[in-house]
Amino acid sequence: MRTSKTRKAARRALSPIVSLIDQRIEREVRRHVEIASKDSLQKELRTLRNRQRPLELFFDGTGRGASRLPSAPHLDRTISELVEVTGADREDAERTVAQAFRLLIALEALGVGRIAGGTMSIVGKLSAVPLLDPPGEEILEIGTLYGMFGAALIRMMQRAGREPNLTIVDPLAGTQLQPGATMGGDATGTPVDLAAVRVNLSLAGAAGEATRIQQGFSEDPEVRALVADRAYAVVVVDGDHSAAGVAADLEWAERIVAPGGIVVLDDFGHPKWPGIKEAFEKHMTTRTRFGFLGQVAHSGYLRAAPA
Ligand SMILES: C[S@@+](CC[C@H](N)C(=O)[O-])C[C@H]1O[C@@H](n2cnc3c(N)ncnc32)[C@H](O)[C@@H]1O
Repeated sequence: MRTSKTRKAARRALSPIVSLIDQRIEREVRRHVEIASKDSLQKELRTLRNRQRPLELFFDGTGRGASRLPSAPHLDRTISELVEVTGADREDAERTVAQAFRLLIALEALGVGRIAGGTMSIVGKLSAVPLLDPPGEEILEIGTLYGMFGAALIRMMQRAGREPNLTIVDPLAGTQLQPGATMGGDATGTPVDLAAVRVNLSLAGAAGEATRIQQGFSEDPEVRALVADRAYAVVVVDGDHSAAGVAADLEWAERIVAPGGIVVLDDFGHPKWPGIKEAFEKHMTTRTRFGFLGQVAHSGYLRAAPA
């Protein structure tokens, strides 16, 4: 009886010390768990970084000048703009954007040089043109750089069941020419010449190989006479980016675009090329056949009035 009372008293007296020891053990256990999970997080981070490096080589700007990995908000915005400009339903726009994105990555991996511009502008153009259902197969690209966008557009039109014929106008002078701007060597290191353009067009099969290439400037009367032998369902204006150059191309487009045809104004609203919007705004105050459809990323879209 006495012993039991003594034990209870001893337990009561020791209780604060026992609880202190318990708390200490708990703290120690928590500390070790934290260290272990920090270690495993760091290990996971190292593994992710290692995996990211080759992905960067594949998608990022090195050797090209622009990252090809769009963010989710950019993708969503481009799809919404496409729906608005082309009238396509969202599912069609999403499918076309996915196809265009994969094509861009594939062509830049396989071809020489690059496609100019940001990923969303390129994907936007490659999607918008087929979705706008142009009224014919003749396409004119003014300013081609490496011919790779032309090759991609041929593929996208074929995917929509079309049989595109492409004509290109570009001086193909060894480097990119831009009046009033110093362009320097291309980030890819590939010369801007006929050989490069032919290599890229060959990636678009027979239609790519059959492309007409007119070397020269779009304002040159001789070039114009040779190219204006047909009406174009699509004209991509992507040559001289100065206000005077774009004004001249729009004035020419008035004469060679088929009724209901599409004009794509590249780098529209791009802060680096203010002359493009300036020329467009001035042009729209004249007697024009063109109506403005809207903008997807940095490209503007016009449609000529129907016949
Ligand atoms: C921005 S790059 C074209 C990019 C190409 N459309 C693409 O999407 O990859 C402009 C090209 O137009 C050419 N150029 C410059 N002035 C021109 C003109 N007056 N007529 C035709 N092409 C011109 C440049 O030398 C260059 O090759």
